[in-house]
Order: sequence, then C-alpha cells, then structure tokens
Amino acid sequence: MSVLSGKKVLLGVSGGIAAYKTASLVRLFIKAGAHVQVIMTPASKDFVTPLTLSTLSKNPVHSSFFNQDDENEKWNNHVELGLWADLMVVAPATANTLSKMAYGNCDNLLIATYLSAKCPVYFAPAMDLDMYKHPSTISSFKALHQFGNTIIPAESGELASGLSGEGRMAEPENIIAFLEADLESKLPLKGKKILITAGPTYEAIDPVRFIGNHSSGKMGFDIANAAAQLGASVVLVAGPTRFKATNANVKVINVITAQEMYDACHDYFNDVDVAIAAAAVADYRPKTVATQKIKKAPDNFVVELEKTKDILASLGAIKQKQFLIGFALETENEIENAKGKIQKKNLDLIVLNSLQDLGAGFGQPTNKVTFIDKNFKIEPMELKSKEAVADDILNKVIAYFNE
Ligand code: CTP
Repeated sequence: MSVLSGKKVLLGVSGGIAAYKTASLVRLFIKAGAHVQVIMTPASKDFVTPLTLSTLSKNPVHSSFFNQDDENEKWNNHVELGLWADLMVVAPATANTLSKMAYGNCDNLLIATYLSAKCPVYFAPAMDLDMYKHPSTISSFKALHQFGNTIIPAESGELASGLSGEGRMAEPENIIAFLEADLESKLPLKGKKILITAGPTYEAIDPVRFIGNHSSGKMGFDIANAAAQLGASVVLVAGPTRFKATNANVKVINVITAQEMYDACHDYFNDVDVAIAAAAVADYRPKTVATQKIKKAPDNFVVELEKTKDILASLGAIKQKQFLIGFALETENEIENAKGKIQKKNLDLIVLNSLQDLGAGFGQPTNKVTFIDKNFKIEPMELKSKEAVADDILNKVIAYFNE
C-alpha cells in the first residue's frame, strides 16, 4: 500500500507548459489512494482545463478567491484548504510562482493557500534551462528550503523552447516516487521493529473440542496495521481470528495454542524494539489432550487444567532495550491490579480495560482504556474506536523514542 493512501493532497498548478502533465499526476495520486483537491493559477488554465482536473480529482477545482458559479459559497476559503491538506504539492512550479512563494506576493489563491498551509510543502520546478540556473531562481529555492519546503528536482531533457537541458518538470511517476520515498523516510516508526500478539488462544480438550475465549483479535490487528502505516516492520503473532493484515509490512504468524504463541514470540523478541501483548491468552489448558473424541458419560465430566506459560511475564523477564506494553482486563480494583501487573511483568506501559466501562472489551468496535506507565502515571482516555485507541498506543511508543 502506498504511503500516500488516505492522504489529503492539495495540488497547486501554475502556468507552464508542464501543466498538461498534471492530468497524469492527479490520476497517479488517486491510484495511490490519495484524496486530491486542485488549485490553479489563472495562467495555468491556458495549459490544462479545470474540467479535466476536476473530473480526474473528483473534486471542484479552485482558482479564484471568489466563486462565480455558486451564490451560496462565494468565497473560496484558502485557510480551510490549507488546513485540510496533509501535504501540498506545487507542480509545475514556474519561476514566477516560486518567486511569489519565496516573497509572499499573495496575488492569487494558490499563494494565499500556500501561506496558510501548515502541512509539508513540495514543489516541482518547471522552466527553461537558463531560468532554472538564474541566481533569482536559485535564491527562491534557497528561501523555500529555509521555510522547510522540499524541492522535487527538475529533470534534464528537451524543453518547450527547443533547447535541451535541466528544467523539465519531473515526470508524474517520478514525482509520486519522490513523494513516497520522502514521506516514508520521515515516518515516525521508520526502522523500528514491533512484535504484537493478538486474538485468543485455543487449548484442545480432544480432537474436536477446545477451551477458548471471545477475543476477536481486532485490537491487535488495528495496532499492527497502524504501526506498519507509521513505518514499523511488524511481526503479528495471532491466535485464531477472522482478521487479516492490510499492510505488507505486517508479517502474520498464525498460532493456535498459548504454547505456540509463547514459542513464536520468543523467536522474534530479541530482535524487536517494542512488544505489545494484546492477545487474550488462555491462562489454563487441559493437562492431557484426548487423542479420540471424548464420549458422553452418564455423570459429570471433569477436565483437569494446568497453567500455561505467561508470555508477557516471560518477555518482561528477558527484556533488554525493548519497550514492553501489556493489556489488563479487569472487573474490580482495576488500577491496583494493573499496577501489580506492571511490576510483576516488568512492563513500561499497561493498557487497562475495565469491563465496568460501557463499550470496552471483547467483540466491541470501541474501547475505553486507561494508560498506566511504569512510574504509575495514570491517564484515562475517552471511549473511542479501536483504531483510535491503536493510534493512542502508538503515540506512546513514538513519544518513548522521542524522549
Ligand atoms: N498474557 C500473556 N500470556 C499469558 C497471559 C496473559 O502474554 N499466558 C498477557 C496478555 O496478553 C495481556 C497481559 O498478559 O497483555 C495481562 O493478562 P491478564 O489475563 O489480564 O492478566 P493475568 O496476568 O493473566 O492475571 P489475571 O488473569 O489474574 O487477571
């Protein structure tokens, strides 16, 4: 999945011949899963039509401060557009537009939006070779670099003037590749390895029966997918579940029993930076597993259980550099019990679920958790979707690496 997937991209088109290539560029953004809005300078409309870009972007194209066509929405709110965007890309960026960006010469909607935008800004220059080398252009590049904007360097080749040299706008495919590589390199969990456990475990009684629990595995899969989107490479050790990983950076190891989960976790633990135990591991398993299906008896039937190994406690005992996060599902004395688990299992953070909270726990799309760190700092969170809880947990991980 592209790092651009789900990103809100504001494409600023200025008036150079390369503007015709923005039709392909918008298509490639959409193909990568991005949401696109386009702002055109008045001059750019001589090179590509707003209708083309609005059709391809599936959104109205913005061009002037005032909306001629819509009585109710007269003013094009550049501040809103700037705040909407996750990234702004000015392509093609002509010498004129670059100089206006550098000096704040705010005479069109594109520049007003650029000045309002709080997101990362990229620009793909397009001009003739001598213009590209001119000290004035270079000084615009320097100013924009100082503002934290990123240049997508022009390419060499035949230019509209008939001359050949550096100044062609980077090809749309190359702009997309540049953005993907740059965004990926800046992801907050880039280069980090995370081990996650998810789902229930099943402990066999005989070939057809088992002891299990109602955990769906959703919380662990949500954390795994979100961590991969933030750049981490993830090993997800999952008990029986219907969920699938949606990101190629999540390697799923399917297990059934607590012992298999224990073994898989210990295979990977030494190599990871973070481990998050979201699985509902069976605490007990049948002491013996019948090889044949157990027949009904006239009287009561007793299965003798023995304890499984506590995976999280075992990881806590051998941990070195790893940031270790556990979950606690409690029904009474929640905070005290959770604090006890932090100490017993040598955790850095515990995510406490209280079954007394409505909307928390197994089988729900939502969760209400309280974070308790190893210094016993308590942070209750609001009821939110499990995806949003996954983001909160990963924000704790990011904060740890930025400490
Ligand atoms: N856990 C584990 N291996 C086990 C049992 C639990 O890795 N055999 C992990 C869970 O994934 C969770 C944490 O330990 O992150 C807390 O589990 P929980 O069942 O709430 O606590 P227990 O220590 O088992 O204590 P109790 O059941 O008495 O509450």
